[in-house]
Amino acid sequence: MSDATVVAKTMRLLVLNGPNLNLLGLRETAIYGRTSLASIEADCRLHLDRMCRPTGQPPLIDAEVELDFFQSNHEGVLVERIQQARGVVDLIVINPAAYTHTSVAIRDALLAVEIPVIEVHLSNIHKREPFRHHSYISDIAVGQIVGLGPDGYRFAVEAGIRHLARLARE
Ligand code: DQA
Repeated sequence: MSDATVVAKTMRLLVLNGPNLNLLGLRETAIYGRTSLASIEADCRLHLDRMCRPTGQPPLIDAEVELDFFQSNHEGVLVERIQQARGVVDLIVINPAAYTHTSVAIRDALLAVEIPVIEVHLSNIHKREPFRHHSYISDIAVGQIVGLGPDGYRFAVEAGIRHLARLARE
């Protein structure tokens, strides 16, 4: 068994997306690119499938992965989705979008459910307007991925699985 492998367990991932991310591909394409959120979701599913069931080699992760992918323009809906994840989801990947910089409610919900979190942003928020430099999530997250466009989501779900595999080995 390789170091990265964990013996069969279901890993449940929730990818949450905040306001205006439903317009990815159309919205401010110079910043966010032309890839839609549906394509990002499909790419995450394909990548997880390859991680767990690669052809001709042992799987990186010997586990079933369930992926729930969700977007809302409403803070309260995101808070409720986080609350519903308690005891049901193993790791949350979140792009809170504009709520990154404003939402104590989303931060508190993430703390309340005690689920590890990985924060992702398509753009490099640290290179943009000063009001985007602060995140209410980053200091409670396992890690933050910024500026890598849609690839950031793929890296985030992979990092999430690797993080859960590490926790399972401990
Ligand atoms: C974003 C960055 C936020 O500042 C912005 O409000 C978004 C998208 C990103 O993915 O780069 O809506 O989270």
